[in-house]
Amino acid sequence: MPTIKSTTYNIHVEHDSFDALNKFLSKKEYTKYIIICDENTSQYCLSTLLFGCETLTAAEIIELESGEKNKTIETCMQVWGALTDIGADKKSLIINFGGGAISDLGGFVASTYKRGIDFINIPTTLLSMVDASVGGKTGVDFEGIKNHIGVIYEPKGVFVNPAFLETLSERQIKNGYAEIIKIAFIADNEFWKTLKKIKNYKEFYTENIIIKAIELKNVIVKKDLYETNLRKSLNFGHNIGHALESALIKQNKDILHGEAVAFGMIIESEIANRLKRISKKDLESIVNYIKSIYKEIKLSNPTKKLVLEFLRHDKKNDGTHLCFALPKNVGSYELCCDVTMEIIEEFISRG
Ligand SMILES: NC(=O)c1ccc[n+]([C@@H]2O[C@H](COP(=O)([O-])OP(=O)(O)OC[C@H]3O[C@@H](n4cnc5c(N)ncnc54)[C@H](O)[C@@H]3O)[C@@H](O)[C@H]2O)c1
Repeated sequence: MPTIKSTTYNIHVEHDSFDALNKFLSKKEYTKYIIICDENTSQYCLSTLLFGCETLTAAEIIELESGEKNKTIETCMQVWGALTDIGADKKSLIINFGGGAISDLGGFVASTYKRGIDFINIPTTLLSMVDASVGGKTGVDFEGIKNHIGVIYEPKGVFVNPAFLETLSERQIKNGYAEIIKIAFIADNEFWKTLKKIKNYKEFYTENIIIKAIELKNVIVKKDLYETNLRKSLNFGHNIGHALESALIKQNKDILHGEAVAFGMIIESEIANRLKRISKKDLESIVNYIKSIYKEIKLSNPTKKLVLEFLRHDKKNDGTHLCFALPKNVGSYELCCDVTMEIIEEFISRG
C-alpha cells in the first residue's frame, strides 16, 4: 500500500491494517492522545481502531454530535474546555477520527489550543479520505457561512484505511464521490475517462480510485499550499456548492456537502460553457454523468435568494468581483474573476 509524500507529512493508505499508524505512534513523542470522534465513528469504527492500535486504548475520547450544523465555534469551545479538563499539554496529540466535519473542526482546535499542538487525521468517510483530511485546510462555519473562520494548519500524518467505508451508506459514498469527479474533471482527463465508465456506486471507492484522487489533490496542495493560484482549481463547483449548502442549512433542509458540490459543478460548467471555456460536448458529458448519480435539486424561490446572498459573501471573491475556478477543457482550469451576478442569476433562477 502506498505512502504519498505531502508537504511535511505522509499520507498512508492501508487496507485493514494500522502498521503505519503504529509505527508513527511508536516514536512515543506525545504525552497524551486525544481522539475526537462523533457518535457514528464511535459506534462503527472506534473498536476497530483500538483493536488495531493498542497505544490508543489509553487515549482520551472526545465524542461530538455529528453533522455540519455542529461544525461551529461553540463546538470548538466545548472541545477546548474538554482538552483543558483532561490536562492536554503542548505535547499532546489530537487524533481526528471521522469525516470532514471532524477533521476541519479538530484541526482548527489543534491549531489554536496553546497556540498550536500536533494532530493527525484518520478519515472514515470517502469525502474525508480523498479530500478533507489532506491539505491542511481547517475551520468552522460561522453565522451560517461555510468555513468562514479557519486557518491552514497541517497534520503530522494522514492514515487512510478504506475498510472504514464498509459501514458508510450509499448516500455518503456518493457524497464523497463528488470530490473525486471534481478533481478528475479539473486535473486529469484520463482519470475522468475512467470515472465516466463507472456506473455502480460500489465501484466509486476502490483503492485505486481513492489513491488516484488523493495523489491528484496532493500534487496541487504541494505546489500551492496557501491557495495563491493553482489550489483555487479545487474550488470548482464550490462557489455555487457552498452557497447552496449554506442556504439549505439555514433553512434546516437536508443537504450533504458533496450533493451541493455536484449541483455547483453543473451550474459552474454551464457558466464555463457560456464563457467558452469548455465545449458543449464536455458540458454534456459532466452534466449527464452527475445527473446519472445524484438526485436533481430544485431550488425554491427563498433558496435562490439565499444562494445569491451567500455568493456575495464567498471568501473566494476578490473585492466585489466573483472569482470562480472554471474548467478550461477537461483536465485543466482557469481562474475567472469576471463572472457577473447576472450570469449567475440567470442559471440559478432557472434551477
Ligand atoms: N478541509 C478541506 O479541505 C475540506 C474539503 C472538502 C470538504 N470539507 C468539509 O468536510 C465536511 C464534509 O465531510 P463529510 O462528508 O465526511 O462529513 P461528516 O464528517 O459530517 O460525515 C458524514 C456522516 O458520516 C458519518 N460517518 C463518518 N464515518 C462513518 C463510517 N465509517 N460509517 C458510518 N458513518 C460514518 C458521520 O458521523 C456523519 O454523520 C464539510 O464540512 C466540508 O466543508 C473540507
